[in-house]
Amino acid sequence: MAEESLGAWICREKARAEIYLLRNVSPPGALPGAIVASPSRSNPDYYYHWVRDAGIVLRAILQLYRLAREPAARRRYFDRMMDFVDFSRHIQDMAVQGGTGLGEPKFYVKGTPYTGPWGRPQDDGPAIRAIELTHLAISLLEEGREDLVKEKLYEATLPARSVIKADLEYTAHRWPAPCYDAWEEVLGHHFFTRILQRKALVGGAALATRLGDPGAAGFYLEQARSLEGELRRHWDPERQLLVSTRDQQTDPPRSGLDSLVIIATLGGYSIEDHELYGEDLYPVNHEQVLATAAAQKRTFQSLYPINDPARNIPGIAIGRYPEDHYDGYRTDSIGNPWPSLTIGFAMYHYKLAMRYGRSGSIVITPTNLPFFQALPGDAAQLDPGEGLLEGDPRFGRVVDALRREGDAFLARVRHHMNPDGSMSEQMNRFTGFQQGAAHLSMNYAAFLLATEMRRHLLSTP
Ligand code: NOJ
Ligand code: NOJ
Repeated sequence: MAEESLGAWICREKARAEIYLLRNVSPPGALPGAIVASPSRSNPDYYYHWVRDAGIVLRAILQLYRLAREPAARRRYFDRMMDFVDFSRHIQDMAVQGGTGLGEPKFYVKGTPYTGPWGRPQDDGPAIRAIELTHLAISLLEEGREDLVKEKLYEATLPARSVIKADLEYTAHRWPAPCYDAWEEVLGHHFFTRILQRKALVGGAALATRLGDPGAAGFYLEQARSLEGELRRHWDPERQLLVSTRDQQTDPPRSGLDSLVIIATLGGYSIEDHELYGEDLYPVNHEQVLATAAAQKRTFQSLYPINDPARNIPGIAIGRYPEDHYDGYRTDSIGNPWPSLTIGFAMYHYKLAMRYGRSGSIVITPTNLPFFQALPGDAAQLDPGEGLLEGDPRFGRVVDALRREGDAFLARVRHHMNPDGSMSEQMNRFTGFQQGAAHLSMNYAAFLLATEMRRHLLSTP
């Protein structure tokens, strides 16, 4: 039997991903708007509202809302987003009352902060939530619903009473302090967290300006500027790598190679960069980002047995970082590749192809050359200093190779997926089988976002 095409498979999987994703939103017994990281309640227990995971899920629901044509479907997505807004405001209050503050990373589904020991604070959470809710606010403003935005999302009053404002105030004051990384393990300053904090502040400033809060806008922009200086310090010129964490305060030290750096350039998993943000500080085609992506692909390729070219499976399965010991159940084991991150790498390549397609030029530098050399096919005959312009056949070949590379990452995820289209947190590094928390929300959100990006790419002439 001929194998189903990737496009046909994506279509089928999208429908299933949406169903699985929405099952994790306001599940029975939870407060409306709570989103569980996974339905798994033991080994491991992921039945919590993680601020980071939930923010990415909101992003996917907003996309579903924007794409939906039928009023009933739009209404359903809309209600879920509003539940999320109310729930988020509620847990902000609870975290402040509980004393841990907005950096509290996870909540019981009834809306109270997790009480056990945990890596706190995790400051990427409020930043992601602010970014995604700002996107929601922009959507609503475009629909002419400024009243609703002011009532529910952003209000100038201080102390902050609205959800976005609270996250922005927290982020603007808190960013200089170290926090735990998005993997919840390392205390220090993180590229991922900082990129998202900056993005939240820049977008928040634009929103504040639109809503007549210019003083706040100025303050947020000032903080964003300062963050830019800190972000530039993550480049390690010797290793030609953007390192994930600086000023690490916990043991054991890490090498700094971490897939979060690439996920960060997707803005979490956000698709389009709204004009709101102006020029990205680290766009996907930044030479340092390209060099980092190349180093990561090489590292994970040789780290995991399932990536052995002799096995002949398309793409590369991507994990968190090479020293990872968490296998989805326990932390004294060995780490594995993750579907959500492998999907994130697909998205990275699509976004890169889009960006080059739009700008019409590709500049090759000594720093980014290794990235292009590793692309499949003969896209590689390039020299530093060269600029490829649209119309040059090599330009078309590179853009095409990027799209195919993205497809290879998705084909990899497909290869290891369960037959019913479900995905867990991890894929065993020896066998590829799904393991760890079942039905991880982030997998489905990432899948919906990445495939929408692919659709954009294919429909752009
Ligand atoms: C331990 C892992 O190392 C950490 O990254 C993860 O967030 C938690 N377990 C989740 O339970
Ligand atoms: C472990 C991951 O390291 C973390 O980023 C995530 O938030 C939790 N699991 C929940 O999915």
